[in-house]
Amino acid sequence: MKIDANSYFAAAEPAFITRHAARHQAAIERCVEKLRSTMPVIGLRNPKIGTAANHWVYCAPFDWVVSFQAGQLWLALQLTGDPAFLHAAQARRPVFRAILANRQAQDHDLGFQFSLGCVADWLTTGAVEPRAMALEAATLLLGRYRPEGRYLQAWNAVAPHGQFDPHHAAGRIIADTLQNLALLYWAHGETGRADFRVAADGHAETALAHLVRADDTSFHTFLFDPVTGAPLRGETHQGYSDSSCWSRGQAWLIHGYAQSAAVTGNPAYLDAARRMAAKSEALMGRDNVPAWDYDAPGASVPRDSSAGAVMASGAYLLAQQIPDEAERWRDFGDRLIGGLLDTCDLTGDPAALGLLAHGAAHVGSGFADNMLPYGDYYFMEALMRSLGHTQFFW
Ligand code: GLY
Repeated sequence: MKIDANSYFAAAEPAFITRHAARHQAAIERCVEKLRSTMPVIGLRNPKIGTAANHWVYCAPFDWVVSFQAGQLWLALQLTGDPAFLHAAQARRPVFRAILANRQAQDHDLGFQFSLGCVADWLTTGAVEPRAMALEAATLLLGRYRPEGRYLQAWNAVAPHGQFDPHHAAGRIIADTLQNLALLYWAHGETGRADFRVAADGHAETALAHLVRADDTSFHTFLFDPVTGAPLRGETHQGYSDSSCWSRGQAWLIHGYAQSAAVTGNPAYLDAARRMAAKSEALMGRDNVPAWDYDAPGASVPRDSSAGAVMASGAYLLAQQIPDEAERWRDFGDRLIGGLLDTCDLTGDPAALGLLAHGAAHVGSGFADNMLPYGDYYFMEALMRSLGHTQFFW
């Protein structure tokens, strides 16, 4: 193992450790036990979305969420050293080989997929095949860079299973891609090749200029002229409206800029994450779980636990990087985790196969209240960050 599971707490500074360490420690232990107890049921399948009974619908071979079960298993391995988690994570490698072999399966989500599926394996075990796979994925992601507009193309007009969707065609960036830049930054660090870094920074700067609004809310997506790269307009895909703020998009940007700042030291990224986190703090409802869209009308707007989990992890990343404001951002992370533990925690429910209830995958398509594997992954990551762990896979 290249990562020493016992070294994390020694590296931690008190100011960014949660004020609720006993509660968070108990929660992460329940997460690990849930992963352990569900392994025989889940097997090598990869959860996509929860059912009403809190069982899982599983991914078809190609899906952007295919790596989040592996990500949780790699975290559980760090926490326990139990080889059962190692074997379950490594046995998923064929899923990632299949993505590399299918052009239509490759889009901006190569970052989510290969950071958690393969970089994690390399960092944890030193195995060379996943390193090579992750570098191949980073090279494919780099191929989506459009220098005319300095952005990474998000989706493909034709999806893996053959559907054509003009909404996905050329010239679109989306907030979610900020999470995928980590694969490019990692590849730059591994190879020294400047083009990986140029593309990651180019995209981050373009997204900052066009996805992040002057009032520190965000568009989910932004369109560019695919030929000239000229900026056209902001639109939503999963939010309430083109002018609203979809909370998971805001969370992807907060975590993504905080993470990019940690890798590059660029103060503009840290400032962006900080401003957007402050806006989200101001927009937070009483139950401390973000509304799925901050502008969605109505008395009982669905919550999105996955947005809360991603944002909490981003808040602890801010706390680590801004010593003068460490307590403020730690407390925001604690508030978000508190909301998840108070109203969404399924870890003590023996019938549930996942960790968090009340995720909003795509409200406009009718998926407003489900377990989500990415919510579960970031819940574990946030709990670990809150307890002082500093080594992850991005
Ligand atoms: N990356 C897709 C989503 O957040 O739903």
